[in-house]
Amino acid sequence: MADYDVRDLDLAPGGRRKIEWAAREMPVLGLMQQQFKTEQPLKGVRVSGCLHITTETANLAHTLQLGGAEVMLCASNPLSTQDDTAAALVHYYEIPVFAIKGEDHQTYYEHIHAVLDHKPHITMDDGADLVSTLHQDRTELIGNIVAGTEETTTGVIRLRAMAKDGALRFPVVAVNDALTKHLFDNRYGTGQSTLDGIIRATNTLIAGKTVVVAGYGWCSRGIAMRAKGLGGNIVVTEVDPLKALEAVMDGFRVMPMIEAASIGDIFVTATGDINVIDTHHLEAMKDGAIISNSGHFNVEINIPGLREISTGDPRRVQPFVEEYTLPDGRVVFLLADGRLVNLAAAEGHPASVMDMSFANQSLAAEYIVQQGDSLEKTVHSVPKEIDDRIARLKLQALGVEIDVLTDEQERYLASWQEGT
Ligand SMILES: NC(=O)c1ccc[n+]([C@@H]2O[C@H](COP(=O)([O-])OP(=O)(O)OC[C@H]3O[C@@H](n4cnc5c(N)ncnc54)[C@H](O)[C@@H]3O)[C@@H](O)[C@H]2O)c1
Repeated sequence: MADYDVRDLDLAPGGRRKIEWAAREMPVLGLMQQQFKTEQPLKGVRVSGCLHITTETANLAHTLQLGGAEVMLCASNPLSTQDDTAAALVHYYEIPVFAIKGEDHQTYYEHIHAVLDHKPHITMDDGADLVSTLHQDRTELIGNIVAGTEETTTGVIRLRAMAKDGALRFPVVAVNDALTKHLFDNRYGTGQSTLDGIIRATNTLIAGKTVVVAGYGWCSRGIAMRAKGLGGNIVVTEVDPLKALEAVMDGFRVMPMIEAASIGDIFVTATGDINVIDTHHLEAMKDGAIISNSGHFNVEINIPGLREISTGDPRRVQPFVEEYTLPDGRVVFLLADGRLVNLAAAEGHPASVMDMSFANQSLAAEYIVQQGDSLEKTVHSVPKEIDDRIARLKLQALGVEIDVLTDEQERYLASWQEGT
């Protein structure tokens, strides 16, 4: 494969403007850039990233590059690439990118192999496709790898499964587990951008609609919160009794998907699970129901099942909307082929929240280099000091000050003798 593979280098000027626009909302990453530029913690380190190719990721890649790393990127989803951003990275930042929005399955994997050909020391994954490909098809490269990082819940689940089976052959830092990542990115980022994706794809009014949210984890509770704010009547489905109870006490109706299926106007899944909306749910839906997913893989809605129960071929009625007709004439609308609707139909998370996620990625890369060969071949948490540092820097950037414990309070909180 050539040195890069993007849709059109002529898109680069527009991409650069967008990358710079995003940088304005990424002050913590900006501070990492200054530090990295002087300290060069990643000098000579080859980093291969399989991430959503967005303006925020471009700023992360640039940060790593300023720290001395040689960075190469491919997409972590066939539909999430911003072609202008990819072009700008190649043209202005000299970062090889292998990603084209809408690439087919074969190209997607050819691009993964292309960034692995770079013989990385660090892998940066969003969904664990690099790690999984390395362990199945490119085992000869594993010896070069010091460690990896993982951005999302689904990737961490896959990696923990590998570690449990004794199959994981290098350490990985679970960036998703950092509190400054999932409490903000998954909740507020996915919450806002998922509604943005649904609205951009359909221009539907949320007010007065019944919005069924599958899951009440970090992403899904963010989606429920934002859909409620737009006037939706929210129904939550869950399998975890604790999460279901939280949803009830947050004021939402909770019921099984088969009940929700017949009353929902808009459906969103964000569970990381398979066939959460299955064929029998699809068969029960109202005419005109809108179905979407914001979980990592396009398995949450049973799309092969939808094809089987519908008549004829689906009709593309809007760029990210396909109409499926059921045998009795009812239609349902599937958004973005069941892939991450916030990245396919909108621009993914706002930069302000990715600021913290990608500050974690940058400091995790630095941490990996500092640790060298000493990390065990398992899934590691981001050290608490990194999390605390990012929270403090973000507050500072937002102009928010907080109190500091007095000596008396520190002593009191550390003691057990004092009562009423
Ligand atoms: N769209 C994005 O940009 C984006 C961002 C971050 C994470 N993600 C992805 O979103 C997914 C969810 O991530 P999270 O951090 O919210 O995970 P989480 O573990 O916090 O929440 C998932 C929830 O789904 C529930 N669930 C599982 N199976 C279910 C089922 N059959 N029906 C109903 N509920 C079910 C679980 O009980 C859990 O409460 C993952 O795939 C993650 O990788 C997407």
